[in-house]
Amino acid sequence: MQHENIIVETQGKVGVIRLNRPKALNALNDQLMDELGSALLSFDADENIGCIVITGSEKAFAAGADISAMAGYSYMDVYKGQYITRNWETIRQVRKPVIAAVSGYALGGGCELAMMCDFIIAADTAKFGQPEVKLGTMPGAGGTQRLPRAVSKAKAMDMCLTARIMDAEEAERAGLVSRIVPADKLIDEAISAANTIASMSLPVVMMIKDSINRAYESALADGVQYERRLFHSTFATEDQKEGMNAFLEKRLPNFRHL
Ligand code: HXC
Repeated sequence: MQHENIIVETQGKVGVIRLNRPKALNALNDQLMDELGSALLSFDADENIGCIVITGSEKAFAAGADISAMAGYSYMDVYKGQYITRNWETIRQVRKPVIAAVSGYALGGGCELAMMCDFIIAADTAKFGQPEVKLGTMPGAGGTQRLPRAVSKAKAMDMCLTARIMDAEEAERAGLVSRIVPADKLIDEAISAANTIASMSLPVVMMIKDSINRAYESALADGVQYERRLFHSTFATEDQKEGMNAFLEKRLPNFRHL
C-alpha cells in the first residue's frame, strides 16, 4: 500500500511507523488509519521484525480523530461503520509487541491509539487528554475503558468530563506511561527498548503479551490459569531450552524463535 500519511521504516529488527500529517498535528483520518493498519499487519507478518514502534512528531503524537472529516458525519455514517471507528481495532490483531513513543499532544483518538499499544514511552513534553466532551462527543476508541484501567476511575472521570490534560509526570505517576525521557532521546529510547524485546524469543514474547492482555479481560483466577498454561507451553519451545542452558553455561542465549 502507498503511504501518504505515515512513514514506515525498519531499523534492524524493529519496525518504525511515524504518523505524518504535520499540518493537522497528525489528526487521524480514515486514510491514515488504513495505512497504519496495513503497515502494522505487514510488520506482524514479517519474520525479520521482532517489535514495532509507533511515533509521531515532536509537537504531536496525534491530536485526535480528524475533526474536519468527522464534523459532517451522520449517525448512519458512523454506525454502519463506513467511517471513523471502522479500522481502529486492527492494532489489536497484532501479536508482536507495539510500543507508542509519544511526544507532544496525544489527545482524543491520539491518546486512545497510544493506549492500544502495549506500552507507552513518553517524552517529557507529552500531553495526554480526552477532550471529546468539548466537541459534544465522547471517546470512541476505548478511552472510557482503557483510561480507567490505566490511571484509576477518578483520574479517568476527571480527564474525560473536564477535558483536563495530563502532563508526562502525572501520566507516569498514574501508570499511563512506563517511562519518561527527554524529548530529544525519545525515539532512541523507544528503539532501544524495541531492540531489547526483538532480541528475546519471539514466541515467548508473544505469549507474554497475550497473557498480560488477558489480565485486562478476565477475573484473576481465570487469568492466572491462562498464564499457567502459557507458561507450561514455553517448555515446548527450543528457546526455553536455549535460554536456560545459556544461563547455566554463563553465555548469552542465541534465540532462534522456535
Ligand atoms: C483536525 C486538527 C486537529 C484534529 C489540530 N488540527 N487537531 N485538525 N482534527 N483533531 C489542526 C488545526 O485545525 C490546525 O489546522 C492545525 O492542526 C494546528 O493546530 P492548532 O490548533 O493551530 O495548534 P495549537 O494552537 O498549537 O493547538 C494544538 C491543540 C489543538 C491543543 C492540539 O489543535 C486542539 O485542541 N486540537 C483538537 C484536539 C481534540 O479535540 N482532539 C479530539 C478530537 S475527537 P489549520 O489548518 O487551522 O492550521 C476524537 C474522537 C476519537 O479524537 C474517536 C475515536 C474514533
